[in-house]
Amino acid sequence: MKIIDRLLRTLLPEDRTFWKLYSPVIRILRDSHEHRLIRQKMSQYLNLSKSDKVLEEGCGKAVWLSEVQARVAETIGVDGELGMLREARSVSPRSRFVLANLDQDLPFRSEHFTKIGSILVEGYLRKPELLRSESFRVLAPGGMMAVVTPRKGARFFRVLSAEAKQRKQEQTVVDNLRKLPLAVIAVIFGKMAELKAVIGDWHFYEKEELMEAYRRAGFEIVACESVYAEQAWLLVIKKPSQFDAAS
Ligand SMILES: C[S@@+](CC[C@H](N)C(=O)[O-])C[C@H]1O[C@@H](n2cnc3c(N)ncnc32)[C@H](O)[C@@H]1O
Repeated sequence: MKIIDRLLRTLLPEDRTFWKLYSPVIRILRDSHEHRLIRQKMSQYLNLSKSDKVLEEGCGKAVWLSEVQARVAETIGVDGELGMLREARSVSPRSRFVLANLDQDLPFRSEHFTKIGSILVEGYLRKPELLRSESFRVLAPGGMMAVVTPRKGARFFRVLSAEAKQRKQEQTVVDNLRKLPLAVIAVIFGKMAELKAVIGDWHFYEKEELMEAYRRAGFEIVACESVYAEQAWLLVIKKPSQFDAAS
């Protein structure tokens, strides 16, 4: 390992500490135009209906689940950070939340869910291939999944600068100044995440590499587009139905 990588590894917080510290900052995602766009696109692609059983992997404070909970039969969020789940419970009271490490097997029955969402999580795992195969296992045949994950070489300050432009048009100067400290902290977290990907703790993907990883796990690709001010991919995939698998 290069000396610089070793040095970075000692300086950067380990994963659990990172997410604990990040917990208050996550508000910036919820309120941002770019995150809202992701949530809208995901819900459209997944074509949610009253009979759907929905899982959100790495749900954080359950921003997406709180928006979809009333439109589907069941919503379950799973995350490894207890503080996030406490707030998730209050914003999404109809949902059930489970504390679990996504680098281990998912604590759910096979083929239970009809839809799965995963926003800005898979790139931050140590064993993303395990989550892909576990997602395949817990999804019913014909079920769909939407995954948002950073692209290779992502620069998160670009998301914040896109956001700043948007806010300048929509909000007052005072309002924007109030948000400034949180935005500065978010830039620091973004930089740490980029460095964790550079030293290989986390993994950010080229488009083809991401699609291939999901094909290998057994999924069919439905769509893959650039989102989050072009710093992430939104991949939509399907588990073949029994009929598709037989033909
Ligand atoms: C960038 S946040 C995204 C949260 C949420 N999906 C959203 O978009 O608002 C990443 C989330 O992944 C969770 N996470 C990261 N690594 C995890 C792991 N190994 N097991 C479970 N959750 C994890 C963090 O606790 C955090 O809530």
